[in-house]
Amino acid sequence: MKMAAAAFLVLLAPVAVFAYPNGTPNYVTDTGPFCASCHSAAKAEYMAELPSEAARAEVPEVKHYGLVRMPTPPSPYIELSDEDKEEIIREAKLIDASASVSIEAPKKMKAGQEATLTVKARGGNGPVICVMLVDRASRFQSRPVASSGWFIQGAPEVRGQDGKAQTGWLDKRADGAGRNLNYITISGQRFDLDKKLFPEGIVTYRVKAPQSPGVYTMAAAFLYGTENAVNSAFFQRPSGRILFSEELRIEVE
Ligand code: HEC
Repeated sequence: MKMAAAAFLVLLAPVAVFAYPNGTPNYVTDTGPFCASCHSAAKAEYMAELPSEAARAEVPEVKHYGLVRMPTPPSPYIELSDEDKEEIIREAKLIDASASVSIEAPKKMKAGQEATLTVKARGGNGPVICVMLVDRASRFQSRPVASSGWFIQGAPEVRGQDGKAQTGWLDKRADGAGRNLNYITISGQRFDLDKKLFPEGIVTYRVKAPQSPGVYTMAAAFLYGTENAVNSAFFQRPSGRILFSEELRIEVE
């Protein structure tokens, strides 16, 4: 029985190390933050449609630190000492306090007009961070902006922590598949909490406004981690985060 369990873990381990901590190397497509079910959400307001208890259960205090401090299974932290647990929480709180994401866009546009949108994100512990351009600041219900009629034109421009343009993420798209994605992973991120060195990136999207006049909302979702990839190789840890930018209201006439 024990052997079977161990063999199962061995099978799982490379997947866990490769996939979730380190972002999602293979999901090179449009998506929304609903995919990050294991991540904690920065605010309960991101889940306004849920009963308040259920929304509260998604914030770091409950979902992450609650599990870190839980003395029994299924907590993946039970083997740690109380000091180690409190250290995880202390560092995660410092990382969260420094995390930010913003979006810049014109406030008013003509139907079908072209514009440039800039998303700036900073925070987390690397080795990657990701941003998504979505229609609302809603953890489970936001959609890629294209769903509300914003056409992303061509490959977004991605700049990493070093300020240099990087194309590694979009280069993974299959030949012939469009590179105009709303979901971008920004890699090559260094992190040093003591030096306040946090992952960073800027994504510039060229978009075409919807054809139907109206008031449209838009936000950037930012996904990052708070433990490190080695510690959280056990992928059930809710140490990932979802943070939204301000929700913009753009008038299209
Ligand atoms: C099985 C749980 C789980 C799911 C589902 C999940 N993540 Fe994560 N994610 C994690 C964990 C654990 C980390 C590591 C956080 C850390 O460093 O503490 C993480 C970290 C990240 C990071 C930061 C990289 C890092 O290593 O810190 C990004 C970006 C990310 N996830 C994106 C996504 C996206 C996009 C999705 C949906 C397609 C997703 N995640 C789904 C568990 C998950």
